[in-house]
Amino acid sequence: MLTLRALSQTEAVLLHDELKTTPNILGYTIPELMRFQNVIVAEVDARFAGVCISKDLLFNWTDIAVLYILPEFRGRGLARELYTAAWENAILKRRHIFTWSCSPEVVHLMEDFGMTTSKSMFRMPLAVHFHMNVHMMSWYRISESIRKGRAMKRVMPLMVGTKKTN
Ligand SMILES: CC(C)(COP(=O)(O)OP(=O)(O)OC[C@H]1O[C@@H](n2cnc3c(N)ncnc32)[C@H](O)[C@@H]1OP(=O)(O)O)[C@@H](O)C(=O)NCCC(=O)NCCS
Repeated sequence: MLTLRALSQTEAVLLHDELKTTPNILGYTIPELMRFQNVIVAEVDARFAGVCISKDLLFNWTDIAVLYILPEFRGRGLARELYTAAWENAILKRRHIFTWSCSPEVVHLMEDFGMTTSKSMFRMPLAVHFHMNVHMMSWYRISESIRKGRAMKRVMPLMVGTKKTN
């Protein structure tokens, strides 16, 4: 079951710990995770199974920024369901969509959704460049980028995907 709602504290704590295990997402503090409003939660048998977090940025861009499925629920189409729901919400609001990922599953979804993809950071919309500056002004993310540095280098390069609404 998918629900558009903020994360509970228990879910945020769990997600915070889970995000520490992947080089694909730098991570967020628990209060940050709880503050996000544009969140779609996937539950299986009433258990928290995964999440997709979108951020509305400047100039009408929406960044589908976090797609995470707990390991035991992977490989059964939940990421596609969540990404589709986040995509449809953004389209309803007539937003341009941005996704940045080095996960083969997510890159596959980006291509399948008809995004323009590129390995060049110069393809990132200006709104994302602005957002990245603020995003990285965080002791938590600076320390995580040091801790995850080597693992992150191994999964490079990142794929930039954009889809502009007409
Ligand atoms: C990446 C992640 C979200 C995928 O979740 P999932 O629920 O297992 O994904 P799905 O089962 O919905 O599969 C998504 C698509 O990827 C495809 N896929 C699976 N493995 C793939 C691979 N190695 N290469 C390319 N595509 C692949 C699937 O076939 C599916 O496409 P389809 O619907 O056209 O068949 C999950 O592994 C995860 O949380 N990883 C850790 C965090 C992460 O890397 N997040 C992404 C960073 S933005």
